Amino acid sequence: MGGYSTINDKNFKVIGKPIKLKFNGITLSGFEGQSIAALLYSKGIRGLRNSKSGDERGLFCGMGVCYECAVSVNGITGKRACLEPAKDGTEVRSLDYKTPYNPIPPIISEYKIDSEKTYDIAIIGSGPAGLMTARTLIGKGLKVVIIDERMSLGGQYFKQLAKSHSFENKSLNDYQYRRGSELIKQVQNSDIELKLGNTVIASEKISENHLNISLLKNEVIELINAKRLVVSTGAYEIARPFPGWTSPNIITTGAAQSLLRS
Ligand code: FES
Repeated sequence: MGGYSTINDKNFKVIGKPIKLKFNGITLSGFEGQSIAALLYSKGIRGLRNSKSGDERGLFCGMGVCYECAVSVNGITGKRACLEPAKDGTEVRSLDYKTPYNPIPPIISEYKIDSEKTYDIAIIGSGPAGLMTARTLIGKGLKVVIIDERMSLGGQYFKQLAKSHSFENKSLNDYQYRRGSELIKQVQNSDIELKLGNTVIASEKISENHLNISLLKNEVIELINAKRLVVSTGAYEIARPFPGWTSPNIITTGAAQSLLRS
């Protein structure tokens, strides 16, 4: 455990519903819209798992890349705390290196191979490139879907405030933030379909104009059809290892930014 981490700025307002989750059996309160990592961090909890050497490991990249924040959520191991939304009643447990990875196999629940739902374009990633591409293509009358493993649009570059909080003094938002917010609203108000919280686990070319794309969400696999696939998975920080980087008290600037916004 480290110190408590919260920001006392009168411009930040909590707007998320109060929730309670359990971490290793201890009840903690937070707000709907926070990630599990943000909620735990705000309570001073840094160590989320133990490595083979017994060292504590925890949040590092804050954007779903490094898996340092892997925890068990409602009995399913290997969940990334930085991506998982904190929900009321969730049971979170830290992991030991011996815990088997994801012991519950995904359930294949839905096939849409022959369904009418074929997208002209499937876009992986909802950062600036994905959003701009989607907005342009929907304007051409195409049927577009955006897939992102995060629960919110914007990627890293246009990352917005978590839904748990609002920032009252909008005039302090910089150009990048405002530009992102504007683009996100345009996409949300369009006919672009959004599949958030979905990880693309496979893509197979069936014929010239037909791809099968497998999505994983909440241990359920969904298969969708698309004619073309646009990969706009964006960028992330490359952290250079240095002695001590595995300490749960060391996080990247991207992770710090994510925490600041939730
Ligand atoms: S994947 Fe969550 S901190 Fe890197």
